[in-house]
Amino acid sequence: MKFSTGAFAFLASICLRDVAIHCQEGDASWWESLPEAQQRKLASLFESNWFENEIDEDKRISYAYSAQQIYDFLATNKDSSPNDSYIGFAPLLLRASFHGAGTYTHATGTGGSNGGTIFNHAELADAQNGCIAGATTELGVLFHGQKDVPLADTMVIAGVVALDSMDFPRMDLLSITGGRDTISNVANRDRLPSADDDPLTRFTKQYDLTVSQTVALIGGSHNFGSAHGDCSGYVGQWTATPLSWFGPDRSDPSFFSDLLKEDWRWYKVCTYANDTVSYASVEDPFANGLPEAEEAPGGEVDACLVASSGEAMLCEEQAMRGCDFEDDIYAIDASPCDVNLLQMRLKSDFFLKANEAMMPYAETFASYPDVLAEEFGKAYHKITHNGLERCGLSGHGCPEGYSCQQLGENTLTQACVLDTAEQNGSSAGNTEDDQALGTSTAESAASRYADDDDDRDTVFIGLLAVVMFIGCVTMALVFMVFGKLNKVLEGTEEQ
Ligand code: HEM
Repeated sequence: MKFSTGAFAFLASICLRDVAIHCQEGDASWWESLPEAQQRKLASLFESNWFENEIDEDKRISYAYSAQQIYDFLATNKDSSPNDSYIGFAPLLLRASFHGAGTYTHATGTGGSNGGTIFNHAELADAQNGCIAGATTELGVLFHGQKDVPLADTMVIAGVVALDSMDFPRMDLLSITGGRDTISNVANRDRLPSADDDPLTRFTKQYDLTVSQTVALIGGSHNFGSAHGDCSGYVGQWTATPLSWFGPDRSDPSFFSDLLKEDWRWYKVCTYANDTVSYASVEDPFANGLPEAEEAPGGEVDACLVASSGEAMLCEEQAMRGCDFEDDIYAIDASPCDVNLLQMRLKSDFFLKANEAMMPYAETFASYPDVLAEEFGKAYHKITHNGLERCGLSGHGCPEGYSCQQLGENTLTQACVLDTAEQNGSSAGNTEDDQALGTSTAESAASRYADDDDDRDTVFIGLLAVVMFIGCVTMALVFMVFGKLNKVLEGTEEQ
């Protein structure tokens, strides 16, 4: 770790002299006050080259502090849903980090965590984003006024810290590279997977993952948390330990071993406005092979079991096992049978064993938890860093002296454009203005490009005039030489 202790000591001494004015949590004195082990732990969350060589000390402390803020937030035991059998916010932060990153589209290089578009209301309104606003709002409040760490980065930090707080054993694979930009006026809509569909193609093509990573990412992540009728229409826990990667008493994660069991039963589950949930047995949609792509998200409400329970908000089909219960209506915050035994799976989870291309991986992960952790770690790091290097909406991916600029209305028409000294000055100013006004980097890049256009026109006309002048002088000289030559020849002929 390359924190300069001299600089810290100097800043800390300023703080100690003038505590009331200068000292704040998240500054040098805060950092100095941490035990060394905690300093090392916070620093280890970040990719070492980026953290140690590419950002200055103030920023390093800000990033470390933002991670600490998430740890502290999770330690407050704030609950993301009163309907769960447990109290916790980490699963929602993890899910939100996926939803922020899951808009990435490899074919175009657009979307993803870079841009932080998940904080945009228009994107949050997507059908797949039910209850994600609970996470973005908390992060917005937690990091209000924080200038050094973009919100887009805080979402990734939140996901990684959430995984650490839930015992993920391969934190070494998750180290974060920061530097994302947050773009307030772009929403990447309809790009997230639906629980009704086979996830294979989307994850391998759209997110550029291997099949093994795809299976590990989906199954690994659904070791955590719960589904909530009022968020997605699905209800229940995937495992008996929703706040831990491991099973009870640190046993192996159980998502895959339980998925491979044969005693799953399928239910149509409907959630009602009066805080009840109905369960009605239905046929196994995988009984005759892979089901076709499903109806629109939300399901058919009129097929719900008990209309008398009030108007159904959402109905979905899901698999359940672990304990028997009657088709009936239950309170939304009460499991129909022992919550520690009852498990659920989404249709998209079931594809992991029903699709022949993915099934061998599901079997491997059921038996080899270390392989699962390794593949999950690599896949999670990849999806949260997809698009970080592009010369795109974020302005990253250009060599020094160049800036990423949008050359037309389409966000894909972006390129690295050579900075002049003057542009360097004005672009630094623009970045701050952008944050203050909440306008997009892409917009300001586009207007900078318009200014560049004018400058280029002037230079072009000047150059044309010089070329034409040189051309005229050359022609005149040529005519003079020819005229002289002619006279000499005429004189020779007369003689
Ligand atoms: C095919 C891909 C996926 C689908 C269709 C899917 C769908 C869902 C659905 C419907 C829920 C229930 C939400 C609710 O009602 O609160 C959920 C929860 C969750 N998902 Fe996924 N998911 C997918 C992949 C992922 C990935 C890749 C991650 C993380 C890397 C993830 C993390 C989570 C977590 C942690 C929860 C629990 C949230 C909570 O307890 O509040 N999911 N997912």
